[in-house]
Amino acid sequence: MSSALRNWKFRVDTDRIGWLELDCPGASVNTLSQDVVREFGQVLSVILDQKPDGLILTSGKTTGFIAGADIREFKQISSAHEAAEFARHTQGLLAQLADLTIPTVAAVNGTALGGGLELALACAYRVAVDTPERCLGLPEVQLGIHPGFGGTVRSIAVLGAPAALDLMLSGRRLAAKDALKMGLVDRVVPADKLREAAIDLIRHRPPLRRPPWYVRLLSLPIVRSWVATRSRAAVARRVRAEHYPAPYAIIELWRRHGGRGGSAYEAEAESLGQLLMTPTCRNLVRVFFLRERLRGLPSRPSTAHTLHVVGAGVMGGDIASWCASQGLRVSLQDRSQEILDQALARAQKFFDRRARDGGEPAAAATQLSSDLQGSEVSRADIVLEAIVEKLEAKSSLFKALEPRLDGEAILATNTSSIPLEDMAAGLIHPGRMVGLHFFNPVARMPLVEVVWSTMTTAETLQRAMAFVTQIGKLPLPCRSAPGFLVNRVLTPYMLEALRARQEGHSIETIDAAAEQFGMPMGPVELADRVGLDVARQVARMLGGSDAADVIGVLDSMVENGHLGLKSGQGFYAYNEGRAVKSHNAPSPDDLLQDRLVLALLNECAACLAEGIVEDADLLDAGIVFGTGFAPFRGGPLHYAREHGIAAIVRRLDELARQLGPRFEPHPGWQMLQL
Ligand code: NAI
Repeated sequence: MSSALRNWKFRVDTDRIGWLELDCPGASVNTLSQDVVREFGQVLSVILDQKPDGLILTSGKTTGFIAGADIREFKQISSAHEAAEFARHTQGLLAQLADLTIPTVAAVNGTALGGGLELALACAYRVAVDTPERCLGLPEVQLGIHPGFGGTVRSIAVLGAPAALDLMLSGRRLAAKDALKMGLVDRVVPADKLREAAIDLIRHRPPLRRPPWYVRLLSLPIVRSWVATRSRAAVARRVRAEHYPAPYAIIELWRRHGGRGGSAYEAEAESLGQLLMTPTCRNLVRVFFLRERLRGLPSRPSTAHTLHVVGAGVMGGDIASWCASQGLRVSLQDRSQEILDQALARAQKFFDRRARDGGEPAAAATQLSSDLQGSEVSRADIVLEAIVEKLEAKSSLFKALEPRLDGEAILATNTSSIPLEDMAAGLIHPGRMVGLHFFNPVARMPLVEVVWSTMTTAETLQRAMAFVTQIGKLPLPCRSAPGFLVNRVLTPYMLEALRARQEGHSIETIDAAAEQFGMPMGPVELADRVGLDVARQVARMLGGSDAADVIGVLDSMVENGHLGLKSGQGFYAYNEGRAVKSHNAPSPDDLLQDRLVLALLNECAACLAEGIVEDADLLDAGIVFGTGFAPFRGGPLHYAREHGIAAIVRRLDELARQLGPRFEPHPGWQMLQL
């Protein structure tokens, strides 16, 4: 067979079954790069030549089947036309595969995402290995695009419009068993039965999967238009078309073409080309690489097996259960067995919830134990404290812990405000101390600030970052300074929101101003969700003297027991976890939005100038993953650059004249203007 192929291997066995294996050289996962697609065209002619009786597509990687298109190549595409051409070309090749008269099977050994799943959908049958990981899906929408290799058409043909649209619009990933239930794959088998099952499908050629007739009826033009209107309304409740055009494009493609015929493929290619050129797509791709950068920060893998957590409150309890769910052996200590029992009961609920979503509960639950006496301290690789936010309490705890630690163990704190230097002062080896600042709710927030002081050794910092990736979170190294990065940047933004409220703006209007910019939630609701007691503590630490009025408001709310979501009443009332909002509030004006956004941006410039994080990309990553800052804008400093630093500084000057010196542009902007 042709030796020119680098990525694909093809052979026909003695039973006349053709085996086509993808194994991208030098890469840990397979992707459908332009090179792989070009070679696929070559190998298809070989297959047509050799006329096997059936064809099985496999992966040479143990890491899975195909992870999708090669996202690094997105940056090289220079026009919508070029992108559409590539999509058309790939569609043509997949059409040749789909049109083969022999039975074809995709033998999916794990990850089949995006283009990888589109290739599998072009086969007559799909058999997947039974793994609990959710590794099958069409997540393109998360990069601001939609499938472009025929996936918007074939997914509808195989699954029917409701399931296919849901898969594409949510970008969610399915475990093999769920994919089977949905009809995305034909069989699910243990890994060692994959080949056998693929051969069996070739031999027996069961009827092809098609959605039932009543589901197909939905694609009739008259019903379609009604369903499309409803889907669009559902999407509009989550995202705006001007921020995230891709989901709207997915619905529009289906509304126009019903997931059928040549025009549907052509429209998909055209639409993909347009979307790839949008700032939203470029910025979401940027965010994808920012995530990769954080993941790649540790220079070596973590060797931690055991974690001891002191303090089983909101944070300590949740950190312990999260780490147990990620495979660590965790012991949890507090002042009474009663507190520990409450934390364990909460952990059990968390494990049960994950079990319902496809996790491994039994294993996780046995990984977590209560340890009232702290007898596991000496065996722990990492000891983390999450006790009350009081310097004396934390310092004396550390002093008591240090002599009992294993020689190599790391001593970590979840403090949100106390300088590490102060806590480490009495230690014999202050270099082993590091901050691991988790965010609330632990299970949902992807970022952990890894805080280093001037005493923290490079070795400790590296190990702490490796630990954060080990537990599936993103590590952001931060200098020990009040508020670190995330709270520091959020504080002026929340305070500005509360000032606007004092001036008479309705809280719904204020939150709408931030949401229109693209924030997942407005600053007033965010304060409620963080907890007004916690928000007050942070505001006291970072707010400065001109925040006294606003802090006074927080004081009286906390005194009245209005703590936000957790007490059912904050600035909003809460009903079943949802803020009760008035729908009659006036629409926000540009000034209000500028006040909020520029308060946040100005603080970002200050943090960069003060070296809280090492560079502008790390700052953007921290704010996107730590606060949910509008991902389609690519991060706050990236947004500022795109908008024009000079224009931002001018607007800050105007706001300073109009509203006060808190808006004076920070000198840090000069660094960014270079
Ligand atoms: P919490 O009040 O819910 O829990 C503290 C726990 O520590 C309590 O169960 C208490 O009994 C226990 N404790 C106190 N002193 C102890 C000691 N000497 N030995 C053993 N246990 C002791 O507090 P929360 O909210 O979990 O905060 C803990 C730490 O996490 C604080 O440093 C806080 O600043 C930080 N943090 C809090 C966040 C939040 O949203 N609540 C977010 C990020 C960090």
